[in-house]
Amino acid sequence: MSEVRLEGIKKYYPYPGGWVRVLEGVDLEVKEGETVSIMGPSGSGKTTLLHIIGTLLRPTHGRVFIGEREISALSDQELALFRAHHIGFVFQFHHLLPEFTVLENVMMPLIIRGEKDEEVKARKILEMVGMSHRLEFKPSQLSGGEKQRVALARALVGEPKLLLADEPTGNLDWDSSHKLIELLSRLQSRLGFTLILVTHNRELAKKWGKIYLLERGNLRCYTS
Ligand SMILES: Nc1ncnc2c1ncn2[C@@H]1O[C@H](COP(=O)(O)OP(=O)(O)O)[C@@H](O)[C@H]1O
Ligand SMILES: [Mg+2]
Repeated sequence: MSEVRLEGIKKYYPYPGGWVRVLEGVDLEVKEGETVSIMGPSGSGKTTLLHIIGTLLRPTHGRVFIGEREISALSDQELALFRAHHIGFVFQFHHLLPEFTVLENVMMPLIIRGEKDEEVKARKILEMVGMSHRLEFKPSQLSGGEKQRVALARALVGEPKLLLADEPTGNLDWDSSHKLIELLSRLQSRLGFTLILVTHNRELAKKWGKIYLLERGNLRCYTS
């Protein structure tokens, strides 16, 4: 079954006196449990595309399906609920809440969803990302690589079927990048989520799955 299907996605941003034409008709199909990497020059629309898949942004034209549902047809309220239950995000900047501890940050998505056992689940996923020894630390007390591991735990604690990662290693040195990608790959084998990864790093992209290149508004498969 396909987990993500995009049909003819166009995205134009309004701009004084015209439009910024970012996506010019993107089609993509990603199967359940598959990994795809998206590469492309800066400004080519990778983040825009990921935000459209993640229901954070509506396309100007085209349709988005996740699982069996056409999400481009849902209302904003329905989208927020859908997102909270089905999609995890990791960004280039960790976006952890500075006032809260590692454990609290990871419990947060479950608290927002009103679920039980949030602490047990948060501890378990923090163990999987190797951060059990830092539960009471604040984000400012962690290294860059550690912050991203906590951000990954927060993205996965709700067991999303789809994980979207936008240059998650963009701020890390080579060694930390390498470790984060290894971890991502291990967690995917264990948890089975579908992964769409935006990266500048071809070495990392080549590790697994298909690579797509986004250029001049179009997406093409670069290798499989
Ligand atoms: N809200 C916006 N309004 C107008 N233009 C935008 C907006 N967001 C992004 N853009 C433009 O869209 C293009 C693609 O941006 P983005 O998706 O962030 O690219 P990438 O992630 O590949 O670097 C850029 O030229 C950017 O300036
Ligand atoms: Mg970007």
